[in-house]
Amino acid sequence: TSDPVTLMKQEVGKAAAQRVKSGAIVGLGTGSTTAYAIQYIGERLKSGEITDIKGIPTSFQATVLAKQYGIPLTTLDEVDRIDVAIDGADEVDPHKNLIKGGGAAHTREKIVDSLAEEFIVVVDSSKIVDKLGSTFLLPVEVLPLAMTPVMRAIEKLGGKPQLRMGVKKAGPVITDQGNMVIDVKFDSIDNPAELEKTLNNIPGVLENGLFVGVTDVVLVGEVIDGKPVVR
Ligand code: A5P
Repeated sequence: TSDPVTLMKQEVGKAAAQRVKSGAIVGLGTGSTTAYAIQYIGERLKSGEITDIKGIPTSFQATVLAKQYGIPLTTLDEVDRIDVAIDGADEVDPHKNLIKGGGAAHTREKIVDSLAEEFIVVVDSSKIVDKLGSTFLLPVEVLPLAMTPVMRAIEKLGGKPQLRMGVKKAGPVITDQGNMVIDVKFDSIDNPAELEKTLNNIPGVLENGLFVGVTDVVLVGEVIDGKPVVR
């Protein structure tokens, strides 16, 4: 646990968890960075430092972690607000716009994160980019029966689509909702807001990983002189 990236993730996770107040309804994001935030929220609850927290998970992974660390869960049907959501990202641009979906959870993440009064993004410094799409392919969740026409439509938009395949599984990655993910290479994403809408307009597309105008706060973990810091 002493490699720099892990240290950065732990530190931002802790910093985000510190911002959660008693009584809050908290959106629980997905990924290895948010996992630390979930852990520290659970630890603060256990120690009595905060009380009466309810979590809304964005994935199966977040559900399992919340249970493991003793955070009571609720659903969108039972609450009238989300006070704060904490989630990771695959890329963050200077306007705090994001690419998400590296964990195939972006559809539920976008629902929860965009409902939150305050959306806090937790990343290590490797996620910071000048322009979205420069290092990471754009994930698009698609209904399985529409996979081929959606890929064709994406090609017409100038994107290079590929079906995301499982690592320890033969065949495609299946999302928590039972769908597939197409990862798309665009030469340049000049207008993320427009591309987000255009992609979501293709019949069969559930949601893409562009998060535009959703983020309130970005916490970035860095290692300076061998010590993890958050800015
Ligand atoms: C999940 O679908 C993604 O949006 C994650 O939030 C993203 O992949 C960040 O994960 P890490 O914190 O593990 O990099």
